[in-house]
Amino acid sequence: MKLEVLGVEKVFSGRSGENRALTPISFEVGSGEFVSIIGPSGCGKSTVLNIVAGLDNASAGKVILDGREVHGPSSDRGMVFQHYTLFPWLNVLDNVCFGQRLKAQKRSKDATFIQTQRATNLLNLMGLKDFHKSFPRELSGGMKQRVAIARALLNSPRVLLMDEPFGSLDAQTREEMQVLLCFLSQHEKSTILFVTHDVEEAIFLSTRIIVISARPGRILAQIQVPFPTERGLDIKLSIEFLKLKARIVHMLHQETVLNKDALLKNLLSQETPGMPASI
Ligand SMILES: Nc1ncnc2c1ncn2[C@@H]1O[C@H](COP(=O)(O)OP(=O)(O)OP(=O)(O)O)[C@@H](O)[C@H]1O
Ligand SMILES: [Mg+2]
Repeated sequence: MKLEVLGVEKVFSGRSGENRALTPISFEVGSGEFVSIIGPSGCGKSTVLNIVAGLDNASAGKVILDGREVHGPSSDRGMVFQHYTLFPWLNVLDNVCFGQRLKAQKRSKDATFIQTQRATNLLNLMGLKDFHKSFPRELSGGMKQRVAIARALLNSPRVLLMDEPFGSLDAQTREEMQVLLCFLSQHEKSTILFVTHDVEEAIFLSTRIIVISARPGRILAQIQVPFPTERGLDIKLSIEFLKLKARIVHMLHQETVLNKDALLKNLLSQETPGMPASI
């Protein structure tokens, strides 16, 4: 599996003119990699992911998956969003099997049975053994996201795209989900492109981190994470982890500081009647 993002740019046109969200960005994701994209709010992280998912078009550049250009959504790219996207009228197992059942007409009964078994196993693995028949309204936020991840994994996508999937969770549940995702990604040998604001989360989960600048987004750095793929929460306390965290936080801080400076310059350059030119 090879995902190539080649010179992808995005300019949104709206009532207030053109909004350049991404300058040309290029990167690759290979089989079994867990790549996180991190950057300030509004830098274009979701835009990149939506373009890779085929939910939005690039203004220039292209996305290639295993040699074929991406032109729209497909089950070879599973997506998990920040906000819960389960069908409220379906129970947990039916939510997970939904995509597979759409394909079921083309399949034998045996294949459908095997998929249902796999869904059951995935849900059990994710600590949802007693909740197969529950409806989304009966689940906590973390449980709903586990169902959404199981649904995405069941389709065996070539690459799993995750846009701040733990963004709405409390700190403790978020950490539990990180451990679960770390385990699952190895168990399922998944390839994942993951968006987050959280530097710790990015380091803990990833094999590589792509740091993006403030809008319009461009790649500031690609950092290989120097930890074994099998990790426990204890690595978060190691010196190497803290040093890497400091390096990335510093990079992101520079982006924010630069923006604040530009903002201040802009404010001061605007003449306000009755105000001195400099404060
Ligand atoms: N559909 C749209 N129409 C117009 N502008 C858009 C649209 N979607 C995103 N943008 C703009 O593109 C830029 C990047 O947005 P995007 O949602 O990709 O940022 P992000 O990095 O995901 O931010 P956050 O971390 O807050 O989720 C922003 O300036 C945003 O206003
Ligand atoms: Mg976003």
